[in-house]
Amino acid sequence: MVERFKDQNTWVVRYQGTIYALSTTCTHLGCTPNWLEREEKFKCPCHGSGFKITGVNFEGPAPRPLERWAINIGEDGQIVVDKSRKFQKELGQWDNPDSFIKV
Ligand code: FES
Repeated sequence: MVERFKDQNTWVVRYQGTIYALSTTCTHLGCTPNWLEREEKFKCPCHGSGFKITGVNFEGPAPRPLERWAINIGEDGQIVVDKSRKFQKELGQWDNPDSFIKV
């Protein structure tokens, strides 16, 4: 979990063989959740929604998972996050190879 880009509305996560970039916008009413390391979850301070490290919602009023940004490896080998494109799990878009990097 990389929190360094949180002020740019992005968490970069490496989890179970993939790297993906999550939007930090809660899908309930748009507050910014906090990453709780010990509980391995994102917790929204506004109305208590919880999201797993995958971004999937599992408690509270959030109706759907966090969104992913497009992500790829640039020519210089650095990870590039493209916030002009987003991917929503409930629309089946997390299967799109532009929404994650295999490691
Ligand atoms: S805005 Fe996050 S739970 Fe309401």
